[in-house]
Amino acid sequence: MIHSNDKILELFEASLNQMQTPEEPELLYAPIIYSMSGGGKRLRPVLLLLTAEAFGGSAEEAMPAAMAVEVFHNFTLLHDDIMDNADVRRGKPSVYAKWGGNVAILSGDAMLITAYKHLAQLKAEQLCRVMPIFNSMALEVCEGQQYDMDFESKEKVSVVEYIRMIELKTSALLSGSAMIGATLAGASDDDAKKIYRFATELGLAFQLQDDMLDSYGDESLGKKIGGDILEGKQTYLMVQAMSRATEEQREVLRTTHLRTDIDNIQKIAIVKALYDELDVKHATEQQIELRFERALTVLDSVSIGAERTQYLREFARNLMGRKK
Ligand code: IPE
Ligand code: IPE
Ligand code: MG
Ligand code: MG
Ligand code: MG
Repeated sequence: MIHSNDKILELFEASLNQMQTPEEPELLYAPIIYSMSGGGKRLRPVLLLLTAEAFGGSAEEAMPAAMAVEVFHNFTLLHDDIMDNADVRRGKPSVYAKWGGNVAILSGDAMLITAYKHLAQLKAEQLCRVMPIFNSMALEVCEGQQYDMDFESKEKVSVVEYIRMIELKTSALLSGSAMIGATLAGASDDDAKKIYRFATELGLAFQLQDDMLDSYGDESLGKKIGGDILEGKQTYLMVQAMSRATEEQREVLRTTHLRTDIDNIQKIAIVKALYDELDVKHATEQQIELRFERALTVLDSVSIGAERTQYLREFARNLMGRKK
């Protein structure tokens, strides 16, 4: 049985609705409910379930793993918002802004444990195969997050270093989810590798787009514009701008976020004016397009045929149209 994207999302939400979270201590559990029901797109569990079904597996059997990746993802967001000093998430106060750093740390920890509780509900033989994939994926996210922070104080970050960083912090969770879906369904090693590559490229396109939306998105859709600029993040826009800038412009790009004589709106305006001048938005769009095309090319090479992968193709297309 192969379900459409919408149907898979519905099945996943139904399963999530059955998730029991204790009431007390309230400051441990209320943030978990707030995060899990806060309007996430559910990309990782949907990708996992679509992949499992494409290779002949069952969504029902894969559901504990789908729950695990979504809870894990939301855990990373709680800690990410502390690390990024971000007070808005999905158009609402982040857990960090609403309850403070200590609550975001501990509720996040509890979510990480909860993710493993869900995973442990897989059948024993499946758990044995999935656990190493889940663990590698989870550690890669941490590695990527550390590089992301290291890069804030690094003078020059190359495109290669940047791509490696986002492959870890963002693609890992998507490629891991796809790999888990393929593994649960008993896909061949060759196909599993291809589906992993597909999700890796898609994840790169997705994070590049996330970088772009952080500077050029629509605030009414839930993103707070300019957060990356104010934190001095090495986004693709910044890496490209630095490589195209004159020495004088480079100095402005490096130091504007640190100035104390102007407000945040002015800082964002100065950096974005340079981005416009150096045409980095266009360069980012090209890179997104390239990664997206690569993802689809790899998907076409999977041995099971175009019909079985149609919903994965649709998933990729929907992702590329995202505005939030
Ligand atoms: C946010 O991911 C973190 C990134 C990797 C950019 P999503 O945009 O998938 O988060 P939600 O769950 O849908 O809000
Ligand atoms: C997301 O990177 C990576 C993880 C949360 C692991 P960002 O820091 O760019 O994500 P947003 O923009 O806060 O969602
Ligand atoms: Mg962030
Ligand atoms: Mg971050
Ligand atoms: Mg971002």
